[in-house]
Amino acid sequence: MTKSSAPCNQHFVLASRPQGEVKPTDFNLVDRPMPQPGKGEVLVETTYLAVEPAMRGWMEDRESYVPPVKIGELMRGQGTGVVIESDNPALPVGTAVSGMIGWRRYLVSDGRNTPLQKLPEATVPATALNVLGLTGLTAWFGMLDVGVPKKDDTVLVSGAAGATGSVAGQLARIAGARVIGIAGGKDKCAWLTQELGFDAAIDYKSEDTAGRVAALCPGGIDVYFDNVGGEILDIALDNLAMHARIALCGGISRYNESGPLPGPVNYFNLIYKRSRMEGFLVMDYAKRFPEAITGLVQYLESGELRHRETVFDGFEQMPDALINLFRGGNIGKQLVAVKP
Ligand SMILES: NC(=O)c1ccc[n+]([C@@H]2O[C@H](COP(=O)([O-])OP(=O)(O)OC[C@H]3O[C@@H](n4cnc5c(N)ncnc54)[C@H](OP(=O)(O)O)[C@@H]3O)[C@@H](O)[C@H]2O)c1
Repeated sequence: MTKSSAPCNQHFVLASRPQGEVKPTDFNLVDRPMPQPGKGEVLVETTYLAVEPAMRGWMEDRESYVPPVKIGELMRGQGTGVVIESDNPALPVGTAVSGMIGWRRYLVSDGRNTPLQKLPEATVPATALNVLGLTGLTAWFGMLDVGVPKKDDTVLVSGAAGATGSVAGQLARIAGARVIGIAGGKDKCAWLTQELGFDAAIDYKSEDTAGRVAALCPGGIDVYFDNVGGEILDIALDNLAMHARIALCGGISRYNESGPLPGPVNYFNLIYKRSRMEGFLVMDYAKRFPEAITGLVQYLESGELRHRETVFDGFEQMPDALINLFRGGNIGKQLVAVKP
């Protein structure tokens, strides 16, 4: 990572396309002129930035569901901020907002060119980027619409102590299912079973994952919520119940690999078990976000749903926070407090 002088409005821009793991040198921290709000515009100071596995894909030069970030371009990312200058009556000074702010300290918007949503009065910014943001919405629609857990189903969740997995597993538990999480490390597994109400947790880094899944799911898996792909997806496919549903949310175990990726080895089990494996993208549910937010707020208020954030302090930590995610250093949502 290189750093230029005369700090004012710092941006992280993409310096190089990652080869394997993301490195700090894949980004440049550059100074840009302080933006000046014009007619109808607001100046927003970033408060928190979210860090997500999808960012690794956006750094590559290939089309996905969004265009790649270009070399030299501002790194894309969601965040929260506060309006510090305003010529827009809809967004007065002091308004807390969220949106695709990007990895920068300040931005100017008319509220539409970089769409900004007002945060509801009592919403904590970190929560707005986690369980009440795209993370919670991904868990909600992926689990409830694609996975469709029913009472007494056996539900398996990978990446279970991460942001999305931890919410998805709890939603299955609330639906009356028996929930088993897979996560890396004893502390993460203890959080799942002791605090989030998972029925069991498997530490895939130190346990025989295939053996434990088979032992914990003697009647097979009814719903598998997949955040990681790779070998763990193969293990889930080996243990399907009849008419099982696999919700393909992500595949972080393969995000650092390039070239043609190996597919699941045993997908014929989908035929034998008359099962369904379906990918989904949270943005496709945009029209239904309000109904999910209402449900998530209710579960938070009743105490049935819990969440956690791992927060790095300081804007300059953005690359390290992304690297941390791929090393499993986060519990719950990985965030950076831009202005600690
Ligand atoms: N479909 C959609 O619309 C949508 C939207 C948002 C996110 N996603 C996907 O959802 C998944 C979770 O995203 P998130 O933001 O909630 O991140 P997260 O789960 O909070 O963080 C990523 C976690 O992945 C685990 N991990 C890292 N490398 C791994 C590997 N090689 N094998 C297995 N696990 C590994 C780590 O936990 P451990 O310590 O347990 O390894 C890490 O904490 C990602 O695949 C992401 O791409 C999809």
